[in-house]
Amino acid sequence: MHVCIYVLLVVGDLTITNTVSALYPTKSKSRRQRWEVKPSEMANNTLNPIRAIVDGMKLTPNPDKPMIALSIGDPTVFGNLPTDGAVLQAMKDAIDSQKYNGYAPSVGYLQSRQAVANFYSCPEAPLEAEDVILTSGCSQAIDLAISVLCNPGDNILVPCPGFSLYKTLAVSMGIEVRLYNLLPEKSWEVDLQHMESLIDEKTSCLIVTNPSNPCGSVFNKKHLQEILKVASRHCVPILADEIYCNMVRCSSPSLASLSSDVPILSCGGLAKRWLVPGWRMGWILIHDRNDIFGTEIRQGLVKLSQRILGACSIVQGALERILNNTPQSFYNNTIGFLKSNSEICFSELSSVPGLNPVMPSGAMYIMVGIDMDHFPDFKNDVDFTEQLVTEQSVFCLPASAFEYPNFFRIVVTVPEEMMLEACARIREFCQSHYRPPSRDSNDLDQ
Ligand SMILES: Cc1ncc(COP(=O)(O)O)c(C=O)c1O
Repeated sequence: MHVCIYVLLVVGDLTITNTVSALYPTKSKSRRQRWEVKPSEMANNTLNPIRAIVDGMKLTPNPDKPMIALSIGDPTVFGNLPTDGAVLQAMKDAIDSQKYNGYAPSVGYLQSRQAVANFYSCPEAPLEAEDVILTSGCSQAIDLAISVLCNPGDNILVPCPGFSLYKTLAVSMGIEVRLYNLLPEKSWEVDLQHMESLIDEKTSCLIVTNPSNPCGSVFNKKHLQEILKVASRHCVPILADEIYCNMVRCSSPSLASLSSDVPILSCGGLAKRWLVPGWRMGWILIHDRNDIFGTEIRQGLVKLSQRILGACSIVQGALERILNNTPQSFYNNTIGFLKSNSEICFSELSSVPGLNPVMPSGAMYIMVGIDMDHFPDFKNDVDFTEQLVTEQSVFCLPASAFEYPNFFRIVVTVPEEMMLEACARIREFCQSHYRPPSRDSNDLDQ
C-alpha cells in the first residue's frame, strides 16, 4: 500500500514530504521525553479483598502438623469429590468428535443455549434458547450482568457478608457498592429494612446470592417474595447469583419462578453443582416476562459478550449431555456429603468455648462467629486465623475478606476425617486462648 502511494507520488512529481503531510496532517504536538508506562485507573481500582487480606497474613504452619486448608472454595482440591462419569464421558466425546475446535458464537452455540433453557425452564419462569447467554464461568456472567445494568456513578446493593467479586468488578467500573446486612441470628436472612433504606434513584441493580457464599444459607419462598417486593416497589432489577442453586437441604425456589414483574438476570454455571470449576462454563438466564429489559438489555448483553468470546467451545459441545445425562444420584450424593460434613463441623464447633457456628442449609460453607472478647490474645479475626495456622496448621478464611469481621468461613468439601481433625485442632487452639468472662462488680461485692 505504502509502496503504491510512493510510486504514484513520484510519478505525479510531488515531494514525499508534501504527500506524507497530506495523508497524515501534522499538528504541533509535544513528544514524550521519557518512558512513563503506568497501570490504568481500572487496573489500579481492581482489588480482590480475599487476596488483599490473605497475602498480608503471615501463614507459617506448625511443622509438626500437616496443613489443613479449609479456606478454598474449590471442591476438587482434595480429590474426594470427583465429578460424575457421565460428565467426563460427555467431555471426552466432545473432544473426540472434533466438532468443537473452532470459535462458537459469542453468546454460545444455539444448541447448548437451548439445552440450558430446557434444563432450567419451569412453567412459572419459561426460558427459550435466546434467553440464555453462555459465559466463561459464573464470574463472567456476573461481569456481563453488572456491565449491562450499571453506569459509572450508579450504585448496586450487595449482601454483607457476601461474595467479594461483586465489589471487585463494580469498583473497577466506577460503580458505588452499598452493602445490605444479612442477619446471622435469622439464618442470614436479609435485613429488608436496611436493604430498602439504601435504595435511591441511582440504584441500578440489587444482587441476591442464594444459596450464599460465604454463609451457606438458603432463603425460603416467603423471604424471597419479600425481597422481590422491595425490588418491585423501587423498580430495581435483580442480579440473582444462583451458582449454588439446587445444592440445598431444604426447598428454595429460584427467584425468577416467584417474580411476577421484577426482571431478573440469573447467573449460574457448572462449577459447583457439577464439581468442575476449572471448566469455566457459566450462563446468564434472562427472565423478563413483562418485557422490561426489552431488546435493549438483550442486545447490550450480546454486544458485551463480543468483547471476548466467553465459554470454551468443547465444554459447550458437551453441555447438552452433561445436563441431560448426569444421574440424580450424583447430585444427591454431593448434597448428602455436604450435609453430613456441615453437621459434623457444626456440632463439633458448637461446643467450643468462644465459637458460634451458624448452621448452613446449602452451598458448601459454614460461617463461625468468634467471641473476640474471650480471646484477648488476638486483635481480630485475621489475627485469630493467622495464629490458628501457626499453632495448629488449620487455615480458615477470616470473614473480614467478606467485610464481616469477627467470623471465619469454613469450606465443608474436605474429606470427613480431615474435617474431624481440623475441628479437634480448632478446639485445642480455642481452649488454650479462651479467657472466661471476667466477674462483674456485683460478683466481686458479694
Ligand atoms: C457466589 C459465587 N458466585 C460466583 C462464583 C464464581 O463461579 P465461577 O467459578 O463459575 O466463575 C462463585 C465461586 O466461588 C461463588 O461463590
